[in-house]
Amino acid sequence: MKYLFPENFYWGGASSALQTEGSDTSRGKTTMDKFFEEAPTRFYNGMGPGKLSNFYENYAEDIALLKKAGLNSLRFSISWARLIPGGRGEADREAVEYYNRVIDEFEKNGIELFMNLHHFDLPIELQNEGGFESRDVVEAYVEYARTCFQLFGKRIKKWCTFNEPIVTPEGGYLYDFHYPNVVDFKRAVQVAYNMIIAHSKAVAEYRKLNLGGEIFTVLNITPIYPRSSNEKDMKAAKIADLIFVRSFLDPFVKGEFNEELKEFLKDNGLMPETQPQDKEIVKNNIIDFLGLNYYQPRRVKAKEHIVNPDSVLLPESFFDYYDMQGKKMNTSRGWEIYPKAIYDMLMTMKNEYNNFRCFIAENGMGVQDEHKFRNKNGVIEDDYRIQFFKEHLSYVHKAIQEGSSCFGYHMWTPIDNWSMINEYKNRYGLIEFSIESGNRQLKKSGLWFNELSKNNGFDD
Ligand code: BG6
Repeated sequence: MKYLFPENFYWGGASSALQTEGSDTSRGKTTMDKFFEEAPTRFYNGMGPGKLSNFYENYAEDIALLKKAGLNSLRFSISWARLIPGGRGEADREAVEYYNRVIDEFEKNGIELFMNLHHFDLPIELQNEGGFESRDVVEAYVEYARTCFQLFGKRIKKWCTFNEPIVTPEGGYLYDFHYPNVVDFKRAVQVAYNMIIAHSKAVAEYRKLNLGGEIFTVLNITPIYPRSSNEKDMKAAKIADLIFVRSFLDPFVKGEFNEELKEFLKDNGLMPETQPQDKEIVKNNIIDFLGLNYYQPRRVKAKEHIVNPDSVLLPESFFDYYDMQGKKMNTSRGWEIYPKAIYDMLMTMKNEYNNFRCFIAENGMGVQDEHKFRNKNGVIEDDYRIQFFKEHLSYVHKAIQEGSSCFGYHMWTPIDNWSMINEYKNRYGLIEFSIESGNRQLKKSGLWFNELSKNNGFDD
């Protein structure tokens, strides 16, 4: 069967400064540096956000490789702590020159940049002021966003406010996998709320500047499936859906907070502090389009045991996760491979959000010990990854056939990268990166992706 995609489809990838640039250059310190300083043993192989693949110095070689893998676009992030060490004030001259050189290189190679302002880490000085729990930090983010728009907005026409904003409250305030490693549902809700306001204010700033581009955000609104249609399972899935899907989606795309989520927060004493003008700000600043990240579904069932009233309140106080029996797994992560969910996610956008314009902003397969698949010419033959892409893309294609507005597919991530507490364990790249030698080389999937992009589709 032939899978042809609409004209001008974006075939690309996503990356982040935190995971590629390397920090032993001139940037300021971030929450991730601090986390590593305080708990190095929590990082796989004791490897923190140090030199990494050093995109900072190798960007020309890396961008040339992206071109070889056929990418016509890339979501790329600015490091706030590099551009404005300390988080507030004037942009650093060297950093501005660096980002301009990088943009030049992308332009030379015909790769369009989707520029992201925030991918998980924050200048540590701002975290010390309370991070996104503080409205002053919200204002600092808006200033930073304005600075970026003013500096690069004539050249960059697609701006992203946040990558997966929910990860900041989840990682930092619920599940202890990001700094400041707090576990407090109410504080997590406040952080999420303030990030929504920060986002909406940044959208307003962008529009004021009239730069003629578009602004979006990237959400990981992974579909949530109940174990059964039994009322209790359905209710459990509903709560998970409100927390993990509707929380950011509704304000960003509809301009309003989800009423059922508000009820749930009120009933559980979790309402955040708000300011009178917030509602209006959210209402007036709907994004132009949305990026969707998808890796695996969340499968949810009713809680089987009564929750101890003294236990810490978490989203999981209201539901349990369960594993699909016989699930197909992503080898290193234990993540379920379930391609149909990418279709379900696109159909949710079509059916419940008035076919809001969107694209797949991350989807990929992280694999451990890929060197085992190296052929005699030294190339990694990652047929499993090609298969993964094909299966997911056939569902993206189906959604488009059925009217989805999806206009692109960005895989995670073109070059193997360092990944927070997982170091280089899960390799996602079309391009292999060797920690030992620093070499990069195309995998089989890199050649396949190039064909995919050239042919605007694939045969299967
Ligand atoms: C995405 C993030 O949700 O998951 C990336 O945006 C991250 O930053 C990716 O790298 C995969 O997770 P991991 O831990 O396997 O690298």
